[in-house]
Amino acid sequence: TIDQKVDALLKLMTLEEKIGQLNQYNDDLKATGPITVDNDKASQIRKGQVGSLLNCLGTERTRSWQNIAMESRLKIPLLFGQDVIHGFKTTFPIPLGEAASWDLAAIEQSARIAAIEASASGIHWTFAPMVDISRDPRWGRVMEGAGEDPYLGSKIAYARVKGFQGNKLGETDAVMACVKHFAAYGAAVGGRDYNSVDMSERMLWEVYLPPFKAALDAGAATFMNSFNDLNGIPATGNKYLQRDILKGKWGFKGFVVSDWGSIGEMQNHGYAKDGKEAAYLAITAGSDMDMESRCYKNNLEALLKEKRIDIKLVDDAVKRILRKKFELGLFDDPYRFCNPEREKAALNNPEHTKAAREIGAKSIVLLKNENNLLPLSKNIKRIAFIGPLVKEYKQNMGFWDVDLPGVDYDKLVVSQWDGLQNKIGKDTKLLYAKGCEIEGDNKEGFAEAIEMAKQADVVIMSIGEKRDMSGEAKSRSDIHIPGVQEELVKAIQATGKPVVVLINTGRPLIFNYTADNVPAILYTWWLGTEAGNSIADVLFGDVNPSAKLPMTFPREVGQIPIYYNHFNTGRPAKNDMDLNYTSSYIDLSNSPKFPFGYGLSYTSFNYSDLKLSKKKMKNNETMEVRVNITNTGKYSGDEVVQLYLRDKVGSVVRPIKELKGFEKIKLNVGETKTVKFVIDNQKLSFYNDKLEFISEPGDFDLMIGSSSEDIRLNDSFELVN
Ligand code: IFM
Repeated sequence: TIDQKVDALLKLMTLEEKIGQLNQYNDDLKATGPITVDNDKASQIRKGQVGSLLNCLGTERTRSWQNIAMESRLKIPLLFGQDVIHGFKTTFPIPLGEAASWDLAAIEQSARIAAIEASASGIHWTFAPMVDISRDPRWGRVMEGAGEDPYLGSKIAYARVKGFQGNKLGETDAVMACVKHFAAYGAAVGGRDYNSVDMSERMLWEVYLPPFKAALDAGAATFMNSFNDLNGIPATGNKYLQRDILKGKWGFKGFVVSDWGSIGEMQNHGYAKDGKEAAYLAITAGSDMDMESRCYKNNLEALLKEKRIDIKLVDDAVKRILRKKFELGLFDDPYRFCNPEREKAALNNPEHTKAAREIGAKSIVLLKNENNLLPLSKNIKRIAFIGPLVKEYKQNMGFWDVDLPGVDYDKLVVSQWDGLQNKIGKDTKLLYAKGCEIEGDNKEGFAEAIEMAKQADVVIMSIGEKRDMSGEAKSRSDIHIPGVQEELVKAIQATGKPVVVLINTGRPLIFNYTADNVPAILYTWWLGTEAGNSIADVLFGDVNPSAKLPMTFPREVGQIPIYYNHFNTGRPAKNDMDLNYTSSYIDLSNSPKFPFGYGLSYTSFNYSDLKLSKKKMKNNETMEVRVNITNTGKYSGDEVVQLYLRDKVGSVVRPIKELKGFEKIKLNVGETKTVKFVIDNQKLSFYNDKLEFISEPGDFDLMIGSSSEDIRLNDSFELVN
């Protein structure tokens, strides 16, 4: 068995070789953290002092490093890890955008394709999915997760792990998933990246941990710990998280990698006095592999000699890593992911391009569509396409694109301009003006843009952030649309022409003028290599938009953190601006600009015939909920039917509603389908004040809606003993 092989190999290993397996270095191609220069990487690999490399791309380069590993005494293969976050060469929507599709099959498919491409290009291991829940759009990394909700986040975490790991590890098109960042990184104070996190145990268990558990249930091979401190203890040195919960209670058999330098950073946290203590704290807490801090390499031997740690700790970490190398088949053939013909075919597969286009269109959220301005007719005579993002290529890739050396992204990416050109007929004239830059206050281009708008029948504007304004270390204190872009929208809107605005970004932004005045808005996120085609498909109705927001959109920064599943408080506001000593602001409504789960369609859906199979449910029983959905509009389309529950009274206070089910269904014009949900005890349970996961008898409200606020039907039931 693999365990026997691991044990046999471990017996042959010197201490230096064991510590080597726990050591991970960055290759020189690209850095995703602060760089430490290492001139003798090759000689260290040759001596068995390195277990893994990250940011090493392509069959040629990975093969050349693996050759060196094969010169080492025990020929233990290297693991090649990479941030394959939303595609490899074929780039899919940023994860938050893709989450807006609420389409679990599509999400799994995009991870599958990413794994097929990455594994063909020498990669064994992706540092994804990021499953951090976040309620703070100032945090730049919201772009990399699935938004604010633990239920939706768990479903997506599961789908992504399944997609990356395919049928089973060991098949050559599967890469190991790495669930990150364990844990609670998304709750950094003030939305500032790497900042501290302070939260209750109940919040941790109810909101932040469920997607990690779901990813583990999907079979995730590895976890990454996190930069933040949690309730005073850095996650990297946090025994409670890694040993007690992950490897203890949850029985995780894979290995944990640190984040870049996070072991050494425990000195900055003021938790370790030097690198040696940092190494001690991390290995004791259950961090198995050291990404780039060199603390293990430099200190574990001394810690063992001083008997501060037991060799069993090191052996356990080594065994966890070796086991994965065996499972991947690397001991049978260290080059099994290094076949250049396979690489060429996988990186040039038109099926992948087609999938990126489809998933891109599924991720676009229709926020507004007054007087059915959209979809546009393909026979419009003149369209003005205005804005700083219209002709951009690389911007569409979003943060965490892989940026393969040698790929000409201007050729690969379909710009929004190209996408529109591909779509319109010969008789439509497309006019262009940039209008302004993304940032800065230069309005010199306004006049030309206004002129173009005046000549057109319809204006489409493409505005938003730069691709690297959301992402790691890209927190913003101000999340309004940058620069003078909204002023440009205002100037164009003043021409009286019908205006459609596309908003490109990695996070919920604030754009009150646009939201209140422009008739049609599509939230396009960053859609990847096929962005232009996906957008054109939706603009002209070849695809009916069906996405729903996975995060609440604030009206102003002062409302953050804002999320739908909040508590009621003792003095809930009765209406938007209830100033009668209620929980509200004196200068702004509590309500979001756009709620969680919101998104329009070109068609309309009617909800009817809500039926609960019982009105009283015992906690060992299940209950069926059925509802009929009818497409009452003029286009076929998809609807995400959402089920929310509220536990009316609990031994601890419960949220005003919680998503507990959703179904995305396709309906032709006039068609009706019955959607069925099953409620079980798990869905009614929560963590009580002793942190036991239990349900309590009592009344529940059940709400079925098209968003967290657009509740179409409701009923109630009682849980009885
Ligand atoms: O995987 C990432 C992590 O999410 C943030 N720091 C760097 C790692 C490797 O690139």
